[in-house]
Amino acid sequence: MIRSENLRSGYIQDDVEEYLYGLLPERDAVIEEIECYAAEHRVPIIGPAVARLLTLLGQVSGATRIFEMGSAIGYSTIWLARAAGPKGKVFYTDGDPANAERAKKYFKQAGVAKRIDVQVGDALELLKKTPGKFDLIFNDVNKNQYPDALRVALPKLKRGGLFITDNTLWSGKAARPAPPDDVHTLGVQEFNRLVYESKELYPVLIPLRDGVTVCRKL
Ligand SMILES: C[S@@+](CC[C@H](N)C(=O)[O-])C[C@H]1O[C@@H](n2cnc3c(N)ncnc32)[C@H](O)[C@@H]1O
Repeated sequence: MIRSENLRSGYIQDDVEEYLYGLLPERDAVIEEIECYAAEHRVPIIGPAVARLLTLLGQVSGATRIFEMGSAIGYSTIWLARAAGPKGKVFYTDGDPANAERAKKYFKQAGVAKRIDVQVGDALELLKKTPGKFDLIFNDVNKNQYPDALRVALPKLKRGGLFITDNTLWSGKAARPAPPDDVHTLGVQEFNRLVYESKELYPVLIPLRDGVTVCRKL
């Protein structure tokens, strides 16, 4: 079942999308609660299909030190923290303190609060000043900031680490000419160009939901 309209890609046929979401197993109580809250209050979250991809990539790569840029109410953070395991550390960041308060409540409910470091402020600045490098960085900030997010994230990623970015098809608008004032589409388009031009990254854009770009640092 597709709970929120924001989970629809805008470019995949409705019946195909319903089918894809219909295959997904039920989530546990806290994840269900966040999905319902997000649907009711129109909080954009990655949703369960992309969350499973994050989990898979986190587990397969063995990532334990993870930085998330743009965490909202902590939905994707919980999936990342679970993938990282009990010895993992996930840095939550969001500009809105009310989001962080709600997220903290969910982290306790999910039993992962101890592995999450909650930081409020600009995710790009917070990433710059957090010491050390990361196994995995997940980027979900404002889309006009994507090129800058890439520039900040790259030096903070370990060699072999994963840089994962959501919304890289942006309802399909990334594929079409954008008006000069559509800064979000222009940001996504520039980001997509930059990652595929980069000599430091091996990117794959996966057309799942709104598009997810997975880059491995070479
Ligand atoms: C799409 S939502 C994140 C959803 C979250 N990743 C999830 O799937 O559960 C984007 C969030 O990023 C935050 N945000 C956007 N730009 C930001 C920035 N530069 N620094 C910190 N937070 C930012 C917004 O407040 C918003 O809550």
